[in-house]
Amino acid sequence: MRRVSALAHTSVGKKVLMAVTGFIWFGFLVGHMAGNLKAFTGAEHFDEYAHHLRVFGEPMVPPMGFLWTFRLLVLVAFVGHVILAWQTSRGSHAARQVAYRKQEHLSFSRASGFMRWGGVAILVFVIFHLLHMTTGQLHPDFVEGAAYANLVGGLSSPVVAGLYVLAMVAVSAHLYHGLWSLFQTVGAAHPKYHAARRPLAVAAALVIFFGFISIPVAVLTGVLTF
Ligand code: HEM
Repeated sequence: MRRVSALAHTSVGKKVLMAVTGFIWFGFLVGHMAGNLKAFTGAEHFDEYAHHLRVFGEPMVPPMGFLWTFRLLVLVAFVGHVILAWQTSRGSHAARQVAYRKQEHLSFSRASGFMRWGGVAILVFVIFHLLHMTTGQLHPDFVEGAAYANLVGGLSSPVVAGLYVLAMVAVSAHLYHGLWSLFQTVGAAHPKYHAARRPLAVAAALVIFFGFISIPVAVLTGVLTF
C-alpha cells in the first residue's frame, strides 16, 4: 500500500496508476459487453446470467459477495482514475505558466482537454446509467431481478437509446486515446511496437463501440423485444 502511495506522488507513477486503473475499467467493459450480448440468446438466458452474478460462489461466498467485491474493485479503480486525472491535469497546468507557442504542442493539449471533458461526460453517464438500469429510479417500469425486461424496457425510448449510443461514442473515443497512451506508458512506444499502437487501440475501441450499441440498436429495430 505504501508503495502505491509513493508511486502516486511522482508524475510517472501517476501515469502508471492511471494506466492500471483505466485497464481495470477496460476489462470491466469487455466483460460487461459480453454479458449484455447474452440478451441476444433470449430473456431466460439473460435473466439467468444476471442472477448468476448475484449468487456466484455460493455457499463458499455469501450471497452478493462476489458482486460486491467486484463492485468495490471497479469503484476504487474509477475513483482512483478520476482523482489521478484531476491531479495530473492540475499538475500540467501549473507546470505550464506560459501558453504554448508552437503548433505541434496543440494536438497533445487538445487530446488532453478532450480526455478531461469526455471523462466528465462518461462520469455523468455512469451516474445516470446506475440510476436507470441498476437501482431503477430513472427507469419507467423497473422490476427488481427482471434483468431482460429492464434492459429492453429501458431502451425502448428512442431518446434514451440515442443517449446510450452517444455515451458509447464518448466511451470508445476515451478508450481509444487511453489505450494508445497506455501502450506508450508500458513501453510499447518502442520503434518495434510503434506501428501496432494505433491499429490495436482503434480495433479495441471499435469492438467496444459496436458491441455495446448493438443492444440499443436491436431494441429500437425490434430485434430484441419482450
Ligand atoms: C449500450 C450500452 C450499455 C448497456 C445496454 C448497459 C446495460 C446495463 C445493464 C442492463 C445493467 C444492469 C445489470 C444487472 O443489474 O444485472 C448495467 C449495469 C452497469 N453498467 Fe452498463 N450498460 C451499457 C454501458 C455501460 C458503460 C459504457 C459503462 C461504464 C462506463 C457501464 C457501467 C455499468 C455499471 C458500473 C453497472 C453496475 C454493475 C453492478 O450491478 O454492479 N455500462 N448495465
